[in-house]
Amino acid sequence: MTILVTGASGNTGRQVVDRLVAAGRPVRAMTRRPSAAPPRTGVETVEGDFTRPETWPAVLAGVERVYLFPFVEVDSEPGAGFVDLAVRAGVRRFVVHSAAAADFDSDDAPDDPDISALRRHLAEERLAHRAVERLVEASGAQWTHVRPGLLAVGALDWAGRIRDERVVRAPYAAAAFPWVHEADIADVAVAALLDDAHVGAAYTLTGPAKVSRAEQVAAIGAAIGTPVGFEELTPEQARTQWLDDGYDRQTAEWLIELLAAAVDGPDLLPPTDTYQRITGRPPRTFAQWALDHATDFRPLARTGEAG
Ligand SMILES: NC(=O)c1ccc[n+]([C@@H]2O[C@H](COP(=O)([O-])OP(=O)(O)OC[C@H]3O[C@@H](n4cnc5c(N)ncnc54)[C@H](OP(=O)(O)O)[C@@H]3O)[C@@H](O)[C@H]2O)c1
Repeated sequence: MTILVTGASGNTGRQVVDRLVAAGRPVRAMTRRPSAAPPRTGVETVEGDFTRPETWPAVLAGVERVYLFPFVEVDSEPGAGFVDLAVRAGVRRFVVHSAAAADFDSDDAPDDPDISALRRHLAEERLAHRAVERLVEASGAQWTHVRPGLLAVGALDWAGRIRDERVVRAPYAAAAFPWVHEADIADVAVAALLDDAHVGAAYTLTGPAKVSRAEQVAAIGAAIGTPVGFEELTPEQARTQWLDDGYDRQTAEWLIELLAAAVDGPDLLPPTDTYQRITGRPPRTFAQWALDHATDFRPLARTGEAG
């Protein structure tokens, strides 16, 4: 029974592959660039692209279960999409990499001109992820939706500045979220791929507790053994920096609104006990995530440096 992992080169997909190999399951890893994928014992790497249907037959041949990354296209011709072809090829179970936003209770429409940038963004996320979930629910196959909240791995955006200057310049140091470790997402995804108990379930995953951005930076400093500063920007300074960095105005606006809401707005995403219920273990902390990623934040060794 081959298990196909899409998004296999990604932060979560890599760990899904690792766990399936460790469990002795035949794994096929899909990527758009197999030549860039390091060869791995027990893993068949195949070229596949959700936007190139000609790649799908070889990806799907002999596959019974799929870890489905959310970049799958949902508006293909009826009967002609990746999920349709997968079911015709023999796939009997999908585990969807979704997002907590899929479960947000809102009727907002993204094209409503009277809603805030954040509400528009959340509406887009909710509709996009629900569309993938619905596609799979309508396919006739078994399904499980894994819905992570904000990813701890987003802190890698700070890696360059931390490596070079040991400082983060960002707004809203007090904004706190229950960041989820990609290893926890992979644990739950693999449980759902292998164990019938999770069929038909939708799981919202978070870290164990809210951690502020200042606390994240302190945890990264502790993980690399060097203090890292947090220079707090005003929202205006952050907007200017993000526009200079190439973010579009809409993204800069919803980011500011999201962070502001996490300081003194409604609680968008409280911690869940889902991971503990499924695995019997507490979710990994942000401090653990920082330790696991310490090499991403340490200064790069310079070649040819004496001593
Ligand atoms: N940001 C958040 O806080 C948040 C919260 C909840 C959920 N999410 C969801 O989680 C995702 C990120 O997860 P991650 O960090 O594990 O992934 P990631 O590291 O960003 O990896 C992205 C993967 O997508 C694959 N991919 C890109 N275009 C593709 C295409 N056309 N066809 C097939 N595969 C394609 C890439 O594969 P190749 O390049 O090898 O082809 C890669 O493996 C987000 O995109 C979002 O949907 C995000």
